[in-house]
Amino acid sequence: MTLIAEAPPLGKQSSLPPVHTVTLTVNGTETQLQLAPWTSLLDALREYMDLTGTKKGCDHGQCGACTVLVNGKRINSCMTLAIMQEGNEITTIEGVGTDSPDGLHPLQKAFIDYDAFQCGYCTPGQICSAVGLLNEGHAKTTDDIRELMSGNICRCGAYTNIVVAIEEVMNQQSV
Ligand code: FES
Ligand code: FES
Repeated sequence: MTLIAEAPPLGKQSSLPPVHTVTLTVNGTETQLQLAPWTSLLDALREYMDLTGTKKGCDHGQCGACTVLVNGKRINSCMTLAIMQEGNEITTIEGVGTDSPDGLHPLQKAFIDYDAFQCGYCTPGQICSAVGLLNEGHAKTTDDIRELMSGNICRCGAYTNIVVAIEEVMNQQSV
C-alpha cells in the first residue's frame, strides 16, 4: 500500500518551527545552538551536541537514565527545556572524571571495581545521580542510598552492587 501525504488546504500550511539561539555551558564549554523552544535538554545534548553518554529511557521522568548535573544538582534532562538552562553549568557523564584511565571519578572506579552494571544503559545516569547524591550530603546509611537513588531504574537489576559502589565512595569521603 502506498501512503500519500496530502498537502494541507490552502491557508493552513504549517510554517517552519520557530528557532531560538540557545547558549548552553556543558562540561565547561559554552556552545550556541539553534533550537526549537520545546527542545528538551536531553535532546539538545544527544541530538545537537553528540553527547550521547546521557541516555533516553522513558523520556517522561520515570527512569533516571537521562540524569545530568545542573550547578551540581541532579536533574532528569528529559524533564527540562534546554532554553531554561541558559547560564547554568551543566555536567554530563562525559564531564565526570577524565578520558584517561587514571582520571576516573571515584564513583566510576567504584562501579568498575564492584561490577555495578550489566548492560550499562542506566550507568551514566546512575553515576551522575550518585555524584549529585554525594554533593547533597544527606545519605548516611545503606538504606539512605537506596532511598535517594530510587529515581534511577536499572532494568538489569544491578542494584546491589550499585549501592555497594556508592557506599564505598561515601565512606571514603567521610574519612
Ligand atoms: Fe528521563 Fe527516563 S529518560 S527519566
Ligand atoms: Fe542494564 Fe542497569 S546495567 S539497565
